[in-house]
Amino acid sequence: MTRESWHTRLGFILAAVGSAVGLGNIWRFPWMTAENGGSAFLVMYLAIVLLVGVPGLLAAFVIGRRARLNPVGALYRLSSGSRSWRGVGLFAVLTAVVLLSFYSVVGGWILRYFVASFTGAYFGSPGAYFGSIDYGVPAVGFHVLFLALTALIVVGGVRGGIEKATKVMMPAIVALLVALAAWATTRPGAAAGLSFYLDFDAAYLRANFLDVLRAAAGQALFTLSLGGGTMITYASYLDDDRNLAADGSIIALLNTGVGVLAGFVVFPLLFTTAGGLTGPAKGGGPGALFVSIAGAFAQVPFGRALAVLFFGVIAFAALSSSISMLEIPVAYLIDEHDVDRRVATGTLGGLVLVTGSANALNPGLFGFVAGTLVNMMLTAGLVGSLVFVGWVLGKDAVAEMSTGAGPGVRSLGPAWLWSVRTILPLFLLGTLAVNLLALAGVSLPG
Ligand code: PFF
Repeated sequence: MTRESWHTRLGFILAAVGSAVGLGNIWRFPWMTAENGGSAFLVMYLAIVLLVGVPGLLAAFVIGRRARLNPVGALYRLSSGSRSWRGVGLFAVLTAVVLLSFYSVVGGWILRYFVASFTGAYFGSPGAYFGSIDYGVPAVGFHVLFLALTALIVVGGVRGGIEKATKVMMPAIVALLVALAAWATTRPGAAAGLSFYLDFDAAYLRANFLDVLRAAAGQALFTLSLGGGTMITYASYLDDDRNLAADGSIIALLNTGVGVLAGFVVFPLLFTTAGGLTGPAKGGGPGALFVSIAGAFAQVPFGRALAVLFFGVIAFAALSSSISMLEIPVAYLIDEHDVDRRVATGTLGGLVLVTGSANALNPGLFGFVAGTLVNMMLTAGLVGSLVFVGWVLGKDAVAEMSTGAGPGVRSLGPAWLWSVRTILPLFLLGTLAVNLLALAGVSLPG
């Protein structure tokens, strides 16, 4: 069976950015930022994206392109048949299924808001509206709809579906966010939101260092789609002439740009129309975006049209990420068990239909899965990839990252390998430990 590959270089970058840019940027990033000191969180998050995210992306790309396989097959074959490494790959596949199980529920909320925006159904009382649709049977219905859309694109395959879809989605997302940001930042009172978002708060950071650290680290991995096997899988469709480090930097830059841009939409709105952090968004939580932003649309001219645009953009962004989650286990079944793409997609779709419904029916389960569990699984997964690249591939990894790269990138190879072997996994294990302590109820010193 000949393996598919990306049609164009832009196709890979767009698809990877499409995976990275999603609910993580627009729904989770503002929520995490609001809960962790605004600018203090922003600075920490940007630093981790740069120092851990970019070299981590490169590690995932090296594994994927070298093996040209899904994460399970990749780790198994590149380790010359080690069962333990196969297990690490299977963990990534499992992580993708867990991710999609909550992501599809939030995607369903977005679809619901998109539809409701045409009539302004939630304009009267945004908080009560969200409370009436967030969990339960209607949430299951919209989760199934979102999942079905995801599966339809994945059935189309890498070139036919994913590449084509993201080529249209990505420019549309950026254009609409820029327009919305221009509108939001010129609202009267927007300055308070911008100041919370941008004026660096060193005192807050000092007082809450470990909490900000673990939130920012989890968010950085989540937003870059790192640790769940997505980037390994997408890079497996790459040819040798691509410069992995350059592609990784572009992807991180574009993704982070969209997240930061989303902040320019969300924070001015939070402070102008939702009463700042003491308004309905206080305390964050999964409903923060919906209650505050939806409430803002209720109060502005052309609110319905703007809301349709806004939720339409987010639906696109969410879909281009959810397809990257479903593609991981699908690629695994195709590569390792010779299953037909349609059968693989149908089987996994059926599984996530059930696990996602459990999340849609149980807010406690949803909160745990969407927050702590996913953070920890992604972190553990990335530690696995880094240790593999650093200690199993070693010099071969440097050779792989050098393939298609210029002399400048090649000269960075040894330093990159050193960090992948030592400091990056240690840092991530540290954040994992902090998460475990928090989970165990130990209160963290600043
Ligand atoms: N990066 C995506 C977002 O920000 O919405 C979420 C994501 C996709 C995480 C794929 C992990 C993943 F493997």
